[in-house]
Amino acid sequence: MAMQAPISTSVPFFRYPHVFAQQRDDILAAMLRVLDRGAFILQGELTEFEVQLAEYIGARHAIGVANGTDALTIALRAVGVGAGDEVILPSHTYVASAASVHFAGAVPVLVECGPDHLIDPAAVEAAITSRTRAIMPVQLNGRTCAMDDLQRIADRHGLVIVEDAAQGLGSRYKGRQAGTFGAAAGFSFYPAKVLGCFGDGGAVTVGDEDLAARIRLLRDHGRNEAGEMVTWGLNSRLDTLQAAVLSVKLRAFDGEVERRRQIARSYRERLQDLEDLTLPPGPDGDADHFDVYQNYEIEAGRREALRAHLTVRGVGTVIQWAGSPVHQIAALGLEAKLPRTDRIFQRCFLLPMNTSLADDEVAFVTDAIREFYGR
Ligand SMILES: Cc1ncc(COP(=O)(O)O)c(C=O)c1O
Repeated sequence: MAMQAPISTSVPFFRYPHVFAQQRDDILAAMLRVLDRGAFILQGELTEFEVQLAEYIGARHAIGVANGTDALTIALRAVGVGAGDEVILPSHTYVASAASVHFAGAVPVLVECGPDHLIDPAAVEAAITSRTRAIMPVQLNGRTCAMDDLQRIADRHGLVIVEDAAQGLGSRYKGRQAGTFGAAAGFSFYPAKVLGCFGDGGAVTVGDEDLAARIRLLRDHGRNEAGEMVTWGLNSRLDTLQAAVLSVKLRAFDGEVERRRQIARSYRERLQDLEDLTLPPGPDGDADHFDVYQNYEIEAGRREALRAHLTVRGVGTVIQWAGSPVHQIAALGLEAKLPRTDRIFQRCFLLPMNTSLADDEVAFVTDAIREFYGR
């Protein structure tokens, strides 16, 4: 008798224990190797992971740091962004992107995003002043920005690009991976990221040898390999234990990305006829982009009612950044007139998107949405 697929009764937004269970034995073995040696700070597993990550991304160097926010702050400082400078970035991002600019000593200048929710190059160009030093494109939701346009603008105005690739690991634009376009890029391994560890973690990727050396100093108290303090630095090292976990997870990463892309394909097939919804670009729609679907961010005209219906049906949904793009966070004083981003934030939210989702659960989500629209 054929096995019957389990019938879902609810689909939470994320399930950390399931994601751990997928590689439980390998992860525990890797952690035990570190624990048994008592080797916790700047040890072999960290270097191994840095080499694997750099190879995977196609960057010359990857340097593990404590989290994605530090990765961006350190990257900005290393490229020379500081007091008196402005850095242009999209308002549709986590507050951490703007915070990294602030803690590098510069001023964040927030701009609009386009229909794919990524920074709008025309808005970047319009925001350039004599103080602009850098552009920070955010590779949001697992999609790399159209980097050609941004690179042209940066070249024309003599600006440096520092990529916020916290949500972009594995995504590609014209065959090149996020993290290889700018002078430097910051990644996050926060547990819910496409490559997540069991706590905070991050990395900077960089091509230039001298910059890489400077970033290594900045993450470790300004200390060189001989143990001498040669500059001011931070304490921002990726834990060896987390690096060991990340090496295991990186081995399974391509398969996980494929699964995310399958789920995105199913969402698109099952929802694309609903006029009230705007879906993200599909995985097969555009030869320039290879998206990894860190998130599946949709827009709905009837968002509040739809989310309420999904809650009743047991489907977990989330609005990124607790519903506020950075320019709407009054306490930060970065108010700006960004009507397109405001409109997106009246409409956008995330459907469940992670490797713990079974096919019948994807169908459960889309059936619940179709039920709401009476289709
Ligand atoms: C777009 C973006 N930038 C920066 C960060 C900051 O990363 P972290 O939480 O590891 O500091 C995150 C993650 O939360 C993010 O999603």
